[in-house]
Amino acid sequence: MSKELLKVKDLHISAEDNTEILKGIDLTINKGEIHVIMGPNGSGKTTTANAIFNNPAYIDKKGQVIFDGEDITNLKTDEIARKGIFMSFQLPEEIPGISVSNFLKVAKGKITGKPIKIFEFKDELKKNMEELSIDPEYADRSLNVGFSGGEKKKNEILQMLTLNPKLAILDETDSGLDVDAIRTVSKGIEMFKNDENAVLIITHNTKILHSLKVDKVHILVDGKIVAEGDRDLANVIEQIGYSDYKS
Ligand SMILES: Nc1ncnc2c1ncn2[C@@H]1O[C@H](COP(=O)(O)OP(=O)(O)OP(=O)(O)O)[C@@H](O)[C@H]1O
Ligand SMILES: [Mg+2]
Repeated sequence: MSKELLKVKDLHISAEDNTEILKGIDLTINKGEIHVIMGPNGSGKTTTANAIFNNPAYIDKKGQVIFDGEDITNLKTDEIARKGIFMSFQLPEEIPGISVSNFLKVAKGKITGKPIKIFEFKDELKKNMEELSIDPEYADRSLNVGFSGGEKKKNEILQMLTLNPKLAILDETDSGLDVDAIRTVSKGIEMFKNDENAVLIITHNTKILHSLKVDKVHILVDGKIVAEGDRDLANVIEQIGYSDYKS
């Protein structure tokens, strides 16, 4: 079995007004790895995640996305989710009338294509909520409605643990979190991680990386990856910023 989980080849994305946002991204993530993308605001990090997920907002997409040996470049977003990619959103949506628990149950059923065993599901949800220090009452609250910024982010990690994808893409799941919540999110990633799956973390903050075994850091500037390295690169960026890195 190949260790390669995700391969992005020469990915170009243009927005509706034809401005090129991504200018040829190459990225390979193997099973068992944690990768990090850092880059200035507006450099194309969220766009990279959306493009992997084939978000229809972009009219022009060139290049290829291979996931677990299969070309998923042109699959629909929900098909890509069923193949085993999860994406946490930089700004999670509020969905009135659908409880956290129901949302997760339906999403899990859709993604696995198997009926959910209710008692097993409830036990697992309770355990994961405890591990993430989320009040169990939140299971019955409408998804994200009235949740604080930090609560929404922790809820994204709860979704990741429940859906158990092969690849989790976490877009700034750590931003706006207090120190304890950052530790909780790190812990959630550690709980999720095994030799068969992978995580791609988009972040501005190296704190979340401290307790994680990071395999590779990619620096994205103006739609291009301009530097790659191990976790030390993230520390260098934290100290000197991006001005030495030009696309
Ligand atoms: N649908 C779109 N139409 C037009 N421009 C877009 C679209 N999506 C993204 N952009 C532009 O592409 C650039 C990259 O955006 P993106 O959201 O990927 O940045 P980012 O690296 O995630 O930034 P941040 O760190 O602020 O989250 C920005 O200048 C943004 O305005
Ligand atoms: Mg972003």
